[in-house]
Amino acid sequence: MSESTFDIAIIGSGPGGYVCAIRAAQLGLKVALIEKDPYLGGTCLNVGCIPSKALLHSTELYHAIEHGEAHGIETGQLKMDIERLMKRKTQVVEQLRKGVEALISKRKVEHIQGWASFKDAQTVSVKGDKNSEVKAKNYVIATGSVPVELPFLKFDGKQIVSSDHAIAFDSIPKSMLVVGAGAIGLELSSVWARLGTQVTVVEFLPNIAAGSDDDISKLAERIFKKQGIKFSTATKVTSAEQKEDEVILKAERKGKELSFSAEKVLVAVGRKPFTDKLALDKAGVETDDKGRIKVKKLKTSADNIWAIGDVIEGPMLAHKAEEDGVAVAEMIAGKPGHVDYSKVPGVIYTHPEVASVGLTEKAAKNQGIEVKVGQFNLRANGRAIAQDATDGVAKIIADAKTDRILGAAIIAAGASEMIASIVAHMEYGGSAEDIARTIHAHPTISESIKEAAMDVSKSAIHAL
Ligand code: FAD
Ligand code: NAI
Repeated sequence: MSESTFDIAIIGSGPGGYVCAIRAAQLGLKVALIEKDPYLGGTCLNVGCIPSKALLHSTELYHAIEHGEAHGIETGQLKMDIERLMKRKTQVVEQLRKGVEALISKRKVEHIQGWASFKDAQTVSVKGDKNSEVKAKNYVIATGSVPVELPFLKFDGKQIVSSDHAIAFDSIPKSMLVVGAGAIGLELSSVWARLGTQVTVVEFLPNIAAGSDDDISKLAERIFKKQGIKFSTATKVTSAEQKEDEVILKAERKGKELSFSAEKVLVAVGRKPFTDKLALDKAGVETDDKGRIKVKKLKTSADNIWAIGDVIEGPMLAHKAEEDGVAVAEMIAGKPGHVDYSKVPGVIYTHPEVASVGLTEKAAKNQGIEVKVGQFNLRANGRAIAQDATDGVAKIIADAKTDRILGAAIIAAGASEMIASIVAHMEYGGSAEDIARTIHAHPTISESIKEAAMDVSKSAIHAL
């Protein structure tokens, strides 16, 4: 068994772990990156952000062509070759895996393949092709998360599936029930509904895309319904029965019993931290009642062990994990690493996209903050009309006294790109007037942000 000593050994190579490794190496530290899977990149690259976005893009193209008559596009019978759809998705993932490998090797990070477990707070044993023992001055746990199962809906990969399976079906299901209208539920409902699957989403809460601004969630539901997706909100799934060619779900809505059936059920009710076989107790690392590693400024209960990304409290998002990773590398290198969790944007990559940052109108009011709200409907945006993308709204929430931007919510084609400019304004403590006076190119859907900011002081130009 080989033994090596590092300044920092990172367990898990998702966006938290590999970004931490690169930043630590840039800062002159000797770094090991331990990964149990045969490839780098974690959930995001291999079964999460990237493959889902590849499928969303391909199916959006398909849907646009299918509905291209008004633009003069005549196609005859359109067909999706699912094998090629999946092949392209895999190529995208493989290209990016190679990219991560190249970055890691360029920075001379030692990639150790195998499953890491703590022997004590100073030693990790790695079981892989070659067994090894790693000693490091600092450890960073970046082991991510896995899908949550419901007790009566255990994943079998065929009828009852998680996102891992629903990004890799080998045929188009005739029908699919989706339990949970969060990011995964909505994105993968879009993918399969665009290809003809009859999708019904069953959500426990009264609104879909919970966490988004209430107005935006309601509008999103109306838009997705027009796209053929059915929703049953405020609905609690109570039991499931698996038959040979269908699954029947029983549920309750406002005291009434409901029954749904479909070929497949996608369970998308959240993800949970993954710490299996890490032997955290041997290193003195504590977890909370949800299995998340407890941290204070990203340091665990063991002095030399840090934790980042999905395995700790906070939004389970790749860019949040990356920021954690950079901050930890900087703190270990003696710099003042910091993450501002109040400005983490969130995006659901449907069509249109749903993006938000900061406080919702309701959350700001609940905190006792007096707010001014500006909104702009995409029906009055020239570019949106030109490209058939008028379903949407931009909304800015500002402090009534100082005009400082507290939050924003957008539902629009390209909202994932648009939200970045609002985050940047917030980062510098910007006001609604700062956005209102920022020149936006015309014609762009981004002009709706400027108009929403102008509407905060009721000076929007194109509002009726
Ligand atoms: P992970 O990416 O989960 O990586 C953890 C790594 O640790 C894995 O590679 C695992 O194999 C390894 N590991 C675990 N235990 C051990 C061990 N003991 N020894 C060695 N290795 C170990 N987020 C976004 O921001 N945008 C999106 O568009 C988006 N889309 C998503 C779509 C889907 C379908 C899913 C499922 C998730 C999506 N996410 C998205 C969430 C995003 O993938 C996660 O927030 C992100 O991957 C978390 O990064 P991480 O580094 O904390 O962990
Ligand atoms: P989620 O937490 O976003 O949504 C889960 C939904 O399921 C919630 O609306 C919840 O109310 C509902 N739910 C929970 N239990 C239920 C039940 N028994 N019956 C009916 N509904 C129930 O979780 P999701 O969508 O599984 O995603 C997991 C994580 O991955 C999230 O943290 C998300 O941020 C991340 N992710 C991010 C993406 C993005 O940024 N675009 C895309 C996909 C995932």
